[in-house]
Amino acid sequence: MAEVIIVGSREDAGALAADEIARLIRARPDTVLGLATGSTPLPVYRALRPRLAGVDVSRVRGFALDEYVGLDPEHPQSYRSVIAREVVAPLGLDPARVRVPNGAPDGIEHAGADYEAAIEAAGGVDLQILGIGTDGHIGFNEPGSSFASLTRVKTLTRQTREDNARFFDDIDDVPRHCITQGLGTILRARHLLLLAFGAGKADAIARAVEGPVTAMLPGSAVQLHPHATVIVDEAAAGRLRLAGYYRETWQHKPDWQGL
Ligand code: PGA
Repeated sequence: MAEVIIVGSREDAGALAADEIARLIRARPDTVLGLATGSTPLPVYRALRPRLAGVDVSRVRGFALDEYVGLDPEHPQSYRSVIAREVVAPLGLDPARVRVPNGAPDGIEHAGADYEAAIEAAGGVDLQILGIGTDGHIGFNEPGSSFASLTRVKTLTRQTREDNARFFDDIDDVPRHCITQGLGTILRARHLLLLAFGAGKADAIARAVEGPVTAMLPGSAVQLHPHATVIVDEAAAGRLRLAGYYRETWQHKPDWQGL
């Protein structure tokens, strides 16, 4: 089962995740990170910055989860821009070593296969940071996505476009299509780190971690992964039936076990 860690705040979650990522980079300077966008991973990237001071990050590689299709890559809300602004620049990563799926309509038919080949050539993702949508998506794998899916084009649900409208002037400006790592791609990463904050995510988290494994709740794919860590605040943990067990497990976790 996924390890569920219930923390007091987003900052605590960010610190916990950043400790693990910094440890990984110190141990393996060519670590391959799977990078999520959206609001959820921001405390992780913020906490990571001071932890990487003095650490050689010149060989770290990164692969973003997804990108909008047809949005100008220079648009401030393209995930290429978001990753450059929120991850690459503050952490001092080499921009040439951090990739985002190519959402340009021209050549979109082979963009997914190109991305899969690049991940494979890098040796696969060591640690994949994930958020979860209120509809249960991870990456932009909307409900119904195959557990075997690889990087490909998807149509966003109305719910996701409404959730992401806050980043745009108007919901009509939110693209309808995206290119996203598939659930099969995500499941190949060696360690999954799924974070969720706020009561709005409580239902998706409970279903992802404790509900049936179903394509209708793509986040439930974490139950199929041998090393998945789920870090949630109290509000996002609100509907977990085994919350008491998770707290006790975390409280008594031996140091030697690691995250
Ligand atoms: P959020 O999005 O982090 O902005 O809430 C999560 C997601 O859609 O995966």
